Amino acid sequence: MIEHYFSENPLSKREEVHFKTRLLGSVVEITSASSIFSLKEVDFGSRLLIEKAKIPENADLLDLGCGYGVVGIAVKKARPDAQVTMVDVNQRAVNLAVRNCRANSVKASVFKSNKFSNENVKDKLFDCILTNPPFSAGKKLCIEFIEESFDHLKPGGTLQLVAPHNKGGGSLKKEMMRVFGNVEELVKKAGYRVYCSRKD
Ligand SMILES: C[S@@+](CC[C@H](N)C(=O)[O-])C[C@H]1O[C@@H](n2cnc3c(N)ncnc32)[C@H](O)[C@@H]1O
Repeated sequence: MIEHYFSENPLSKREEVHFKTRLLGSVVEITSASSIFSLKEVDFGSRLLIEKAKIPENADLLDLGCGYGVVGIAVKKARPDAQVTMVDVNQRAVNLAVRNCRANSVKASVFKSNKFSNENVKDKLFDCILTNPPFSAGKKLCIEFIEESFDHLKPGGTLQLVAPHNKGGGSLKKEMMRVFGNVEELVKKAGYRVYCSRKD
């Protein structure tokens, strides 16, 4: 059976990988495992998102599709004023994100959630939603990430999404424009772009 990183309950033998990396001026320690996105190192797009995201003061921030938690953890280390929530549909990813928060002495709320279905996030509004969306799970799901993010942002809140522009990112940029009525590019690097839409 082919098992994807977005499986809800991965059955593959759990092989762990440990690595450290520098992000936003801090060392972040990660434990990763099989059936989790970007097993051996932080994905280029995720790193770009972490480095270029615009986070307002005292932000209520959601790391949507958190994987092993690197986006939320790196941001919280650099910006302790942020209230960080992380969600992922993959139970193994959620377990790792909780563990990685502890290893990095980061306080964050981590929930298993199919998009915004979890009780703790379904009625919550955020200032900022950061995501490296699950392209391999299909464009339809990525569009749902955009549409449901709009419904979970406070007025003035932003969705910041990283994607490879010529491999599907361009079409997500159009979807962000359709849903929010605005979209800007925060950065372009090595084929990746970080798109940002504001809920006016
Ligand atoms: C491209 S990965 C990014 C992971 C992590 N943010 C990172 O940067 O390493 C996308 C993540 O979205 C998660 N995902 C897929 N479908 C989801 C859904 N319906 N709800 C929440 N998370 C989902 C996957 O399990 C995966 O961890």
